[in-house]
Formats: sequence, structure tokens, C-alpha cells
Amino acid sequence: MPDGRPHLQLVEDMPRLRIIEERDAPAVLDAFDDDAMRRQGTIRTLEEARNWVSFMGGRGERLALAIDLNGQMVGAVVVSSIDQENETGWFWYWMHREHRGKGWMSRAAVTLADHALTIMLLHRLELGHRANNPASGGVARAAGFLMEGVEREKFLVDGVRVDVHTYSRLATDPWPETQRLPLDL
Ligand SMILES: CC(C)(COP(=O)(O)OP(=O)(O)OC[C@H]1O[C@@H](n2cnc3c(N)ncnc32)[C@H](O)[C@@H]1OP(=O)(O)O)[C@@H](O)C(=O)NCCC(=O)NCCS
Repeated sequence: MPDGRPHLQLVEDMPRLRIIEERDAPAVLDAFDDDAMRRQGTIRTLEEARNWVSFMGGRGERLALAIDLNGQMVGAVVVSSIDQENETGWFWYWMHREHRGKGWMSRAAVTLADHALTIMLLHRLELGHRANNPASGGVARAAGFLMEGVEREKFLVDGVRVDVHTYSRLATDPWPETQRLPLDL
């Protein structure tokens, strides 16, 4: 690295995690304009995107983080359905189509999972992904989740029955080595 610039470029291009804000609505609308996002819900207008952003902001029941690249939201990672009595939460994520495959989702997921299992005092995080969505399984494993089972033919997608792979990560599970992202809360 003769002049250090490649390293500086790498640092600048690493996203950080922060709370989702009102200004993220246009980015959310753009992200949902994607067939691969159909299972995440339908957002077709800026108003629907604003509603989604506003809903995600409800602290207590969930913690929804934006994956922020240079001020722009490029993905989301969320712990929702938090059950304080049983100390559990449901874990999910999405990445804008143009930013997939860079390992950022794995890093975002491990960062939030660590936070949820320590600072938020949860004991068990759960997630499920369609068997035909292997990238989601890759993210789960990179974030320290262990596969628990298969919910056979759980979903009907375009006329085809699809298995769901279920995963969990416990506070007592080994921590994965996946690189963490900065988290600004
Ligand atoms: C699932 C999703 C978040 C993955 O994002 P991503 O940016 O590809 O994630 P990463 O770059 O961190 O890669 C995650 C892992 O999946 C692997 N992967 C990526 N695409 C893959 C593919 N098509 N087939 C198999 N593995 C794949 C990567 O190699 C990586 O595994 P590794 O850490 O063992 O190398 C993204 O595809 C997405 O947003 N999809 C639409 C919404 C969705 O399906 N969300 C999950 C619902 S359960």
C-alpha cells in the first residue's frame, strides 16, 4: 500500500448502524422496488415508506437500525416482537439490491445481535428464512445464529410450497468472529 489511499477508501466505505429516521423514507421506498423484497411487505408510495419508518421508530417493542453508508440508508436490521418476559426477540434484515454481497449485512446483523444479547438483556434471538434464500442463511450463521430446524412447506410463494429454516442465537452461544460495524445509538 504505497500511499495508504486504498486503506482510507476502505474505511470510508464501511457503513455504520444508527436509528432509522424520517429522512430515510425515500431510501426505503427505493429499496422496496425490488422483487426480492416482496416478503418484506409492500411499500409503493412515499407515504407508505414514511409510515414504515414511523412504525419502526417505536422504541421498546423493537429496535430497528438503518445501515448507513455515507448518510444514506442502504439496509435495515431489526429486533422486533420483543418479549420481555421470556427475553426473546425476532430478528430480521434486508439490504438494498445494489449493496448486497459485500458482507455488510453479516456485519450489521452480528453487531445488532451482540447488542440485543448484552445491552438489551435478551437471552434468545430467533429468525427464519425461506430455504431458497441461501444468502439469508449466510447472514444468520455469520451473525452467530445456529440452525434449529426446518418448518416444512410453511409458505406458499407463487404457487410453490417453500420450507423455512429456523435459527436462533442465545446469549450463551459462542460469539462469531465476524467483523462488527460502528453502532451509534
Ligand atoms: C438476505 C440479504 C439480506 C443478504 O444480504 P447480502 O448483502 O448478500 O449479505 P452478505 O453480503 O453479508 O452475505 C451473506 C452471506 O450469504 C452468502 N451469499 C450471498 N448471496 C448468496 C447466494 N445467492 N447464494 C448463497 N450464498 C449467498 C455470502 O457469501 C455470505 O456468506 P459468507 O459470509 O459465508 O461468505 C439480501 O439478499 C436481501 O436483502 N434480500 C432481500 C430481503 C431478504 O430476503 N431478507 C431476509 C429475510 S429472512
